Amino acid sequence: MVSKACRGKGIGSLLVKASLHFAKNLGFQALQFNMVFSQNTSAIQIYKKLAFSIIGTVPRAIQNSDGSYQDGYAMCRNLDDIALIGSLAAFCPPITPFLLRLSL
Ligand SMILES: CC(C)(COP(=O)(O)OP(=O)(O)OC[C@H]1O[C@@H](n2cnc3c(N)ncnc32)[C@H](O)[C@@H]1OP(=O)(O)O)[C@@H](O)C(=O)NCCC(=O)NCCS
Repeated sequence: MVSKACRGKGIGSLLVKASLHFAKNLGFQALQFNMVFSQNTSAIQIYKKLAFSIIGTVPRAIQNSDGSYQDGYAMCRNLDDIALIGSLAAFCPPITPFLLRLSL
């Protein structure tokens, strides 16, 4: 989660890009988010920008306080084109030092 004061500056996108690299480095073939609510426009924008597809929909997955509903999407992306973590510096330099600390 990105704090409300820091949203819209690319941090969420960087976190998802980093997740793609970590998943690849750990040997996974795909990354999937199982419940993306349909009104979460910024999250959906990030996932679509990073080549995720909606592979399933749970109709009326959650009810809003006004009584309306949101669907829930499963969004998935294969990792075939993702480089291993050795090339992370070229992909997302601003958070590389943080990620390298995490990988120790
Ligand atoms: C989702 C979340 C991580 C995004 O973080 P962020 O740092 O604001 O994300 P970014 O700045 O990288 O990108 C936001 C994108 O959404 C777009 N966006 C924001 N509001 C939008 C709206 N109302 N409609 C369409 N797109 C919108 C921005 O233009 C940007 O896209 P771009 O990079 O193509 O310009 C953050 O809002 C958050 O922590 N939300 C609460 C937790 C959550 O919902 N997690 C995801 C669960 S699936």
